Amino acid sequence: MATTFFYNILFVTLLYLISVSNACPPSERAALLAFKAALREPYLGVLSSWKGKDCCHNWYGVSCDPTIHRVTSIDLRGRSEDPIFAKAHRTGYMTGSISPAICRLTRLSSLTIAEWNGISGPIPPCIASLSALRILDLTGNKLTGEVPSEIGRLRRLAVLNLADNQISGIIPQSLTNLSSLTHLDLANNKISGSIPKNFGRLRMLSRALLSQNNLIGPIPISISQINRLSDLDLSLNQLSGPIPASLGKMAVLSTLNLDGNKISSPIPPSLISSRISILNLSRNAIEGSIPDAFGPRSYFSVMDLSYNKLRGGIPKTITSAAFIGHLDISHDHLCGPIPPGSPLDHLEASSFVYNDCLCGKPLKAC
Ligand SMILES: *[C@@H]1O[C@H](CO)[C@@H](O)[C@H](O)[C@H]1NC(C)=O
Ligand SMILES: *[C@@H]1O[C@H](CO)[C@@H](O)[C@H](O)[C@H]1NC(C)=O
Repeated sequence: MATTFFYNILFVTLLYLISVSNACPPSERAALLAFKAALREPYLGVLSSWKGKDCCHNWYGVSCDPTIHRVTSIDLRGRSEDPIFAKAHRTGYMTGSISPAICRLTRLSSLTIAEWNGISGPIPPCIASLSALRILDLTGNKLTGEVPSEIGRLRRLAVLNLADNQISGIIPQSLTNLSSLTHLDLANNKISGSIPKNFGRLRMLSRALLSQNNLIGPIPISISQINRLSDLDLSLNQLSGPIPASLGKMAVLSTLNLDGNKISSPIPPSLISSRISILNLSRNAIEGSIPDAFGPRSYFSVMDLSYNKLRGGIPKTITSAAFIGHLDISHDHLCGPIPPGSPLDHLEASSFVYNDCLCGKPLKAC
């Protein structure tokens, strides 16, 4: 009898211990509630599930480490496959700001607050102290202010996505200290100044998307040291100076978008015989001629050289290119015959119009 009693006590105590240790720490719960209090989401009610003691259980978008019961991930997306959006027949909309209380979640490794269109205010600078952070995705809001100047302290950060906001200021020097960064997207903001000279220190980077900002100055040569870089988009800025020839020697670079800048120097021949398959140099002030450097390795799904100041003829070697899917050399100052046959014979006149004196199919005969 006494032993049964003893075992009952033990069992109840165990149950109690398990339930207490499963719950999130009160300090983390308080931080989440302070974060919630600074936001307003009137249409879907995603944050209305943030109630009760245990923030690790059924709080929308919150995940905890199963053993230490600390918040490791906040994943709030205003557009996703989640049935909550289908049910409401709309995408998300949230206003308010990102509370610095978020920085009290010191085990956070993934923070996504994306595509809510209305969240404004700055990125709390204290985010740079979240040393476990691997993913920071704040894309598609109305964030202002600057990229935190100490962002480079996040040694584990692999994904930094701040695209489609109203972030201003410069790219902080410390950003090049992010030695784990694989994906950088700062596109469509108001970032000014130049790209750090030592940008090439980001050795793990595979995508660098900086388009639609107010960046000035040259394209740093050091970029070509990033061996894993496959996608470089610097379009729609005000970059000037030469295109580094070394970009054409990169091992896996397949997309290079430099369109809509103020580049005036000639196209390096290395770009034509590179592994690049999407090349957009449109709407610059590029001078010189199209390099006569095509070969069997030239495989372009897109080559857009339109709206520049290119002169001379279409180079002879273009007939040796493996493939040219979409070519646009319109609005330049080119002259002479369009080589008949492959790889240009599938193209329409719009690829060649508004030059000085190009001729032959699909334009009028020479
Ligand atoms: C980058 O990291 C190095 C080494 O930890 C440090 O000395 C330097 O101050 C950092 N640079 C910036 C701009 O934060
Ligand atoms: C190349 O860039 C220009 C200017 O930004 C853009 O209008 C054009 O659509 C791009 N070309 C292709 C084929 O995507």
